[in-house]
Amino acid sequence: MATRAPLDRARLANLMARECERFTADHPRSEALFKEAKGSLLDGVPMPWMVKWASPFPPFVDSASGAHFRCVDGHDYVDFCLGDTGAMAGHGPSPTIAAVERQLRRGITHMLPTEDAAWVGEELTRRFGVGAWQFALSASDANRWSLRLARHVTGRSKVVVHDHCYHGSVDEAIAMLDDSGRVVPVRGSVGPQVDVAETTRVVDFNDVDGLEAALADREVAAVLIEPALTNVGIVLPEPGYLDAVREITRRTGTLLIIDETHTICAGPGGATGAWSLQPDILVIGKTIGGGIPSAAYGFSPEVADRVRGSIEVEDSDVGGVGGTLAGYALSLAATRATLAEVLTTEAFERMIPLAQRWAAGVAGVLHERDVPWHVTRLGARAEYHFMPNPPRTGAEQWAHADPDLERFLHLWAMNRRVLMTPFHNMALMSPATTEADVDRHTATFGEAVEALFA
Ligand SMILES: Cc1ncc(COP(=O)(O)O)c(C=O)c1O
Repeated sequence: MATRAPLDRARLANLMARECERFTADHPRSEALFKEAKGSLLDGVPMPWMVKWASPFPPFVDSASGAHFRCVDGHDYVDFCLGDTGAMAGHGPSPTIAAVERQLRRGITHMLPTEDAAWVGEELTRRFGVGAWQFALSASDANRWSLRLARHVTGRSKVVVHDHCYHGSVDEAIAMLDDSGRVVPVRGSVGPQVDVAETTRVVDFNDVDGLEAALADREVAAVLIEPALTNVGIVLPEPGYLDAVREITRRTGTLLIIDETHTICAGPGGATGAWSLQPDILVIGKTIGGGIPSAAYGFSPEVADRVRGSIEVEDSDVGGVGGTLAGYALSLAATRATLAEVLTTEAFERMIPLAQRWAAGVAGVLHERDVPWHVTRLGARAEYHFMPNPPRTGAEQWAHADPDLERFLHLWAMNRRVLMTPFHNMALMSPATTEADVDRHTATFGEAVEALFA
C-alpha cells in the first residue's frame, strides 16, 4: 500500500488546541469539581492515573450503567475503557448488584470462609485448569504473593518478565531493557526498594533464545507473563512461542506464572483456556468481581503440593502472603455472581464479534484513507498501532508510540462521547456493549483520520 504524506505536526497541534477548547466548554461542572478537588487531593484526583486522560481535566462521572457512563455535565459516553478492565463485565451488572445487596445484609467481612469461596474455586478450575485457589483484592497482590510463593518453593531468587510488561505495582516487574540490553527500572519507577537488576531478568516477548539464556543457570524461580502483552499495546505470541516458554520453564525447573488479568478477554478461560496453556500458577484480577475488588491465584496440583504444608500455620499471618480482607465475603459473593451470570460463555460469544466489528471498522477507515496503521485483536479487546505491521515485541510497539497523536485521537473521541483506555489505543467490549456503540467509534475515528490527513 502506498504510504501517504507524513503527519502534519502543525495541523495536529492546531486540532488539539481546538479539541481542548471544545472539551472545556462542554464540561464546566467537571472543571469546577476538578478545581475544588485540588484543594484536598494531590493533583485533584484520587489516584495519579486519573490525570492521564487526554482532556485538560478528567470528566467527573455522575453514573454508569452497562457500556455507558454519564458525566456530571450530562453527556452520555460509550465506554470502551471500562475501568481498564475493572468493569469489563459492564457497569453495575444486575446479578452482581443483587448478590452484593444480599451479602451486605449477611455480613461483609469476618475472616471466615463462606460457601461462595468453594464455588468460585471450582468455577475458576473449570475455566483455567489449575486449582488450589487463594484470593486477593487486586491482581497486583495476587502477582506479588505468587512470586513470593514461587521463590519459597523453588528456593531460587530471580524472576523473569517480558520487556514492556505490566503486572501491577509489583516491584520485580517494574523492569525493562535499555538500549544495550541491561535491566533497568521502567521510566517513572517510583522509589524502588532494590535495584531491579538484582531481582529480575528481562527478555523480549517472542524471544525464545533470550528466554533460554535467562533460565540456563537455574537461578530463576518463576517466569511471570501475560500470554499476549496488553499493556504496551496488544502484542500477540508468534506460533510456537508459548509452547517454547512452557518447554524451557519445565526443563529448567522454573515455574510459569500466567497473569490473565487482561487476557481474560480471549474467552471465558482467558488465553489459557483458548490456547490450552498449562501454567504452574495462574493469576486473575480486576473484572472477576464485576467491579467489587477481587483477584485470585491458583496452582497446578504439583505446585499446590509443594506449597501446601510449607508454611507453619503459626506463621501464616506474618510471612508476607495474604491480606485481612482478601477473599472476604462480599468480594466472593460478587465474584460468584459475575462468573455465574455475567462473564459467561454466552457473553463472550457476543463480545468477541463486537471486537471483530470494532477492528473491521477501524481497518476499513485506515484502508479507505490509505493510512499505514495496523489493527490487532485479542478476543473481546482490540487496538490500533501507528505502524503498518503487528509488533513482535513490546519494544517494537513502544518505538512506534506517538503520545501527541494518541492524545489527540483520544480527546477527539471523548468530545464525541466515546471513551478509549487512556493508555495506547485500546478498546474493550463488555456484555452490554452494542453494535451501535461500536459503530459510533468507527464513525468518530473516521472523522478524526479525515481531519488529520484530509
Ligand atoms: C496484566 C495485569 N496484571 C496485573 C495488573 C494489576 O491490577 P491491579 O491494578 O488491579 O492490581 C494489571 C493492571 O493493569 C494488568 O494489566
